[in-house]
Amino acid sequence: MLNVGIDIGGTKIAGGVVDAEGRIVEKLRVDTPTDTRALADAVIDMTRHLSAAHDVAGVGVAAAGFIDRERASVIHAPNIAWRNEPLKASLEAGIDMPVIIENDANAAGWAEFRFGAGRGVDDMVMLTMGTGVGGAVIANGLLYRGGHGIAAELGHLRFIRDGIPCGCGQSGCLEQYASGRALQREANAIADGEADGIGAGLAAVRTQKGTLSGPAISRLVLAGDPGATEALLRVATALGEACGGFQAVLDPELFVIGGGVAQLGEDLLGPVRIAYETSLPGYGDRPVAQFAIAQLGNDAGLIGAADLATVRPGGEY
Ligand code: BGC
Ligand code: NA
Ligand code: ZN
Repeated sequence: MLNVGIDIGGTKIAGGVVDAEGRIVEKLRVDTPTDTRALADAVIDMTRHLSAAHDVAGVGVAAAGFIDRERASVIHAPNIAWRNEPLKASLEAGIDMPVIIENDANAAGWAEFRFGAGRGVDDMVMLTMGTGVGGAVIANGLLYRGGHGIAAELGHLRFIRDGIPCGCGQSGCLEQYASGRALQREANAIADGEADGIGAGLAAVRTQKGTLSGPAISRLVLAGDPGATEALLRVATALGEACGGFQAVLDPELFVIGGGVAQLGEDLLGPVRIAYETSLPGYGDRPVAQFAIAQLGNDAGLIGAADLATVRPGGEY
């Protein structure tokens, strides 16, 4: 059984034909158009292309926003211009197969649970650290959706009172402190404030390149640069503290961390674990969760979306 999975990201749309074991049979990538009509057309084109060469049953589309319980509309998207966007209907107008829409982090979390770092675990939380902070909750082996389909928006946990304004309309959300963007903001602040001290390496790269990109910061972290390490520590600490709170509510066995920042591996997970453990209610007496880096990388969203397009016997997915 083959499905098409599509992951609509802020800069790229990735699509693939995926088999029942989560393996990608064929894959395509295009730039994400900014106009929402052009974006739907790009997804339709990609799906037609992929399904022309393979015997495909359904289509799953992962998108960075709040998706309704019917898996049909984007209710709200903090970082994309979608408001009550009937994405399923727009896509099905051009695709001759059933389409489901899924939250991008839910799709990635589901893929990790089925085929990646979360295999063999029943209770798992996924966090993606990219433009935003995405979340997925696997509870008792099922993707937890909540009453309206939009549970597990873990990046919009309000983390700091009167904090930084967020694209969701609130302020102080975890996303503003633990995303790839937050890492860039902290790195820039350190470069500005301590250009002669620990920020010297960051400031030099910024002068040379005109900006501090995520990958440039990551390279500095891996090279042991003190300013980049401090920026990462701040972001990792925010994430870890929030995970202590998620533990209190959900008690997962495992946290899987994905998104661009997760490429830092143990350099990220080390400080995350420390902040997590020191934030746990009852620490010392209670069991703690494991932390793992996502295994499926950038493909997790499309693999999970493809798998979620399959409705299994009993209706669970
Ligand atoms: C959105 C989520 C999304 C996450 C990662 C957040 O800003 O609210 O729906 O999963 O970014 O893309
Ligand atoms: Na989610
Ligand atoms: Zn928010």
